[in-house]
Amino acid sequence: MKRIGVFTSGGDSPGMNACIRAVVRAAVYHGIEVYGIHRGYKGMVKGEIYKMDSHSVSNIIQKGGTILRSARSREFMTPEGRKLAYEQLQEHGIEGLIAIGGDGTFTGANIFFEEYGIPTVGAPGTIDNDLYGTDYTIGYDTAVNTALDAIDKIRDTADSHDRVFFIEVMGRDSGYIAIPCAIGGGAEIVMIPETETSIDYVVDTLRTGWNRSKTSFIVIVAEGDDAGNATEVAAKVQQELPHMDARVTILGHVQRGGSPTAADRMLASQMGVACVEGLLQGRKCEMAGIINKELVYTPFIDTITKDKLINPQYVRLVDILSV
Ligand code: F6P
Repeated sequence: MKRIGVFTSGGDSPGMNACIRAVVRAAVYHGIEVYGIHRGYKGMVKGEIYKMDSHSVSNIIQKGGTILRSARSREFMTPEGRKLAYEQLQEHGIEGLIAIGGDGTFTGANIFFEEYGIPTVGAPGTIDNDLYGTDYTIGYDTAVNTALDAIDKIRDTADSHDRVFFIEVMGRDSGYIAIPCAIGGGAEIVMIPETETSIDYVVDTLRTGWNRSKTSFIVIVAEGDDAGNATEVAAKVQQELPHMDARVTILGHVQRGGSPTAADRMLASQMGVACVEGLLQGRKCEMAGIINKELVYTPFIDTITKDKLINPQYVRLVDILSV
């Protein structure tokens, strides 16, 4: 393999730049050419493909976002779009790809390989940490610390005003962000998609705390919780407890930005090198990851179809620690 392409796709995450840097530097180290594909599959279809070298990735390891930009492409989901993408890769002589993203990104790469035989190795890039095949994803540690910083600040004002705050964190399908935010932020309740939390339970817990003279509360709600998002949960609870002064804070995309933590820079750097070396070893349709401190490669099909379950004991921990 003489020439590869690298791209970021789906929701950006802090550490993607550190991973791009590692891919480019590892390619240079191994004597292969590397091209950056801008805006993920969208840019691949359109031919937004540019040569990179060691200098193209100087001074980016500490930066949030992705210098390659990111997108979610509808066109690549169609056979016509993938044909155009293949033609662009052919035109640029690209023989293998490195995809930094989540399960949507790897689903696309799998189909692309079946249709056109272009091998892709993936790096787990998402703040959600819900990818099977790695203990941690690039950006997760930073996102949790960003959210925690905000929660600490909200705790100050919640305490001052005797209020209950419903704080929504990201995680459409997973409580990976919510759990450390709740435990680390000293929350009274955590609501995550993986476990059912009834509104009655939330009301009872707040009422019991109130009757014990507790006057401020933090409830962490993962955006995809089955009881609703933070706004919906707060409205339902407020109906039952009208004497409580409730507020809602949606942390939203602030969790996706910012300078990556040391842990994310380390992981991203390891993953970038592992992707290049994986491609050179002849791997295809596999994601690099770290499990129990060891580098592993997991077939895309497993990362896409298997669930990385969160330990339900963590919810119990929040209960115990908030008595
Ligand atoms: O997958 C990462 C993520 O940040 C999720 O936690 C969130 O639900 C989603 O992306 C938001 O996507 P968008 O940026 O398209 O609104």
